[in-house]
Amino acid sequence: MASITIRNLDEETKQTLREYAAKNGRSMEEQVRLILGDVKKLSLLEPAQIFNPIATSPIHQQSEEKGAPPVNLKGKLILLVIGGGIAAYKCLDLIRRLRERGALVRPVMTNAAHEFVTPLSVSAIANDKVFSELFDRDDEHDIGHIRLSREADLIVVAPTTADLMAKMAQGHANDLASTVLMATDKPVLIAPAMNPKMWSHPATQRNIKLLHSDGIHFIGPNAGEMAESGEAGLGRMAEPLEIVSAIENLLLPKKIPQPLAGKRAIVTSGPTHEPIDPVRYIANRSSGKQGHAIAEALGQAGAEVILVSGPVDIPDPENCETINIQTAREMQQAVETALPADIAVMVAAVADWRTVNASDEKMKKENGKGPASLQLTENPDILKTLGHHKQRPQLLIGFAAETEALEEHAKAKLKSKNADWIIANDVSPEGGVMGGDKNTVKRLSKSGIEDWPKMDKSEVAQKLVNEIIKHFTVETLEI
Ligand code: C5P
Repeated sequence: MASITIRNLDEETKQTLREYAAKNGRSMEEQVRLILGDVKKLSLLEPAQIFNPIATSPIHQQSEEKGAPPVNLKGKLILLVIGGGIAAYKCLDLIRRLRERGALVRPVMTNAAHEFVTPLSVSAIANDKVFSELFDRDDEHDIGHIRLSREADLIVVAPTTADLMAKMAQGHANDLASTVLMATDKPVLIAPAMNPKMWSHPATQRNIKLLHSDGIHFIGPNAGEMAESGEAGLGRMAEPLEIVSAIENLLLPKKIPQPLAGKRAIVTSGPTHEPIDPVRYIANRSSGKQGHAIAEALGQAGAEVILVSGPVDIPDPENCETINIQTAREMQQAVETALPADIAVMVAAVADWRTVNASDEKMKKENGKGPASLQLTENPDILKTLGHHKQRPQLLIGFAAETEALEEHAKAKLKSKNADWIIANDVSPEGGVMGGDKNTVKRLSKSGIEDWPKMDKSEVAQKLVNEIIKHFTVETLEI
């Protein structure tokens, strides 16, 4: 039967088969028998069932999918390093599962892996060439081991033998598999498979710790029967679908919970610039870092965010609608236009005063005369306006940047501006808050004062958003 099959093969396949057989010192018939053996191992079934192996295989029954899988790995290139263990046969199924999901699989086999599964079967299922030799002139010319490891989105090692783990932990690079693992700058996922005694051996346990601390991701091993009769315990390679889901976890964006979905938030950020003439203005040192971080964190929690920002040097958050303004009056107009809103967080350091009449022409020094005096008038207080607005947001939060008597001033603002919370921070120059990346704040509300530890502005933003989420969760529960 094998000879009939060979005769019927097309010339290119016959040539590949001839080369593999010659390289392994086998006849073409022997090579075909081995390939058929791989297919049989893949199915773990009787020969009669070989041609429909996956659907009825007992090993897949518990994890079998319903319907066609999503093509969610489209365009992802996975470098699959196949180690030399009996579980190597599962790689054929793993490759098939990955390709069904749109992934490209480029196989690398260790020499030992060739004893368990033939490169021809791997190559046929992966629809790609199998890479095995570190010093293969053609392969190095063609792609090279550095490109091989760098072009991939992820390296998966399955099965990972005790020996491969030891090599990875120690940084050996003496064959193609270990070299690509050393040369990579991409995440690496390993699926260990070995005898339970080898898994629990102190040397393997040491290597597991080292690999964990190197940031290597693990899937499995599972507990169960071993290929060797009478052996059971921890050491079975994870099933192909479990490996696929670990790959999806690493390669696909995480679904972040959206507790503020359906809520609309307005955030002000940065300074305002109040013109004196076309080239001069009144401003302050606000960088916008804190306000932008809050807007971004609200967006991540699912809120629809309108960010009204004064002139800043930082990028607009991607998940907000940003309205850029210059002056306090423009900010007020943008905020009022954005109403109604459920949440408003007024972080901007709005200039308290503006010139009564900004000059249309650049103001000139006049010989003999002193400096021109600026006539100032008060800007609208946007927070206060919102606090007394007929469309007052349900949760209104202000900031109080002070250089002295922080709590006292913040308490007064909570009341006068009719805010729900005031986030108070000391902006004395020695603290480095204005323009810096850290912030130490207190949260004042009608129920008291909380001191928050010194944190990155992004952490303050996250904590504030967590409090906002809690506020709305409690409100919902109370209803
Ligand atoms: O009064 P003070 O400027 O310290 O108030 C700080 C709080 O009031 C901040 O939340 C700030 O964004 C807001 N504010 C405002 N409009 C102003 C002045 C301050 O919204 N004109």
